[in-house]
Amino acid sequence: MPDRPRVAITPATKVADLLASWPELEAVLIAQAPAFRRLKNPVLRRTVARVATLEQAAGVGGVPVRELVAALRRAAGLEGDATGEASARDGGEPEAAPEWLDPARVVEALDAEALLDAGEVPLTRVGARARQLGLGQLLRIDSGFRPAPLLEALRKQGYRCFARESAPGRFETFVASPGRAEPGPLHRYFAADHRRLDDLLRRATAGEGPIDLAPYGAFRGGLLRHIGMEEKVLFAAAREARGGEPLPIAERLRVDHGAIAAMLVPTPTRDLVAQILSVLGPHNGREEEPGGVYDACDQALGEAAAAQLVGELRDFPEPPLKPYNDAPAVMSHIAANLELARRQWLEDAG
Ligand SMILES: [Fe+2]
Ligand SMILES: [Fe+2]
Repeated sequence: MPDRPRVAITPATKVADLLASWPELEAVLIAQAPAFRRLKNPVLRRTVARVATLEQAAGVGGVPVRELVAALRRAAGLEGDATGEASARDGGEPEAAPEWLDPARVVEALDAEALLDAGEVPLTRVGARARQLGLGQLLRIDSGFRPAPLLEALRKQGYRCFARESAPGRFETFVASPGRAEPGPLHRYFAADHRRLDDLLRRATAGEGPIDLAPYGAFRGGLLRHIGMEEKVLFAAAREARGGEPLPIAERLRVDHGAIAAMLVPTPTRDLVAQILSVLGPHNGREEEPGGVYDACDQALGEAAAAQLVGELRDFPEPPLKPYNDAPAVMSHIAANLELARRQWLEDAG
């Protein structure tokens, strides 16, 4: 028997802490539900058991948490059941399937036991696959236990999840992207900035005369700031949230940015503004379209982190502006960058 005081046994006790403190209770856990045999799997023990509570484990094993804790406490020679408030998830009617659950939309099925047997952590694999879900697409996870910790982790990240017993002792869990009717915080922020910049350019080009350099200057500084926010903050944050994997379209958007920034160097003319719009219009459309890069960033970060990033972006400074430069080298730089930007999307269409 260890000298250190043993951990209390309550629904909030972590499974790993329980087994470290009361190793003899492993057999009691397994007797409660055969699904707990999986706790012998070292991967599960190192990962899931470390974060899962007895309440979640009860959900996995399909036993009421009150019964599980009482059995453990009895075996440990402790008085009372210490469950406090009984879990609302104990027993009760099975939940009705949500409206988004359409099995025909499942694009991939994962087998939790096969992953565990292969030494993989199901949450890692499921998380990676869930991030690739498009709007309306579903992921299915098959398991021999109710994956309570997985459900909780995915819900915290904003995913919609639903688990049901498909056959006695078999569970299927459906995961959908956060899919929202309303665009997320990043989408709203960047789309509003597009509208603001569009308005400045409209004012700069109103009428028939020369370009009005006051609104054009604000457009020029604002657009360079916008590009800086996307490249230095938005795409970088999305990449980090995706475990280092960049958004597939980010590289092409950067090539567009290069062409747009080059066109902001010379003194504006109506021809130049037409050329800017020929890149900027489709570019902004690709960023704002449903399932486009802004939605992908909101999805990768989740609502709370996206809202926090928007708060930080409000202070993002405008870069210092250089005087207009109409040198021949500037014009050939524009031509080369425009060619790159146009060709990449033509290749895509072809
Ligand atoms: Fe952009
Ligand atoms: Fe943008």
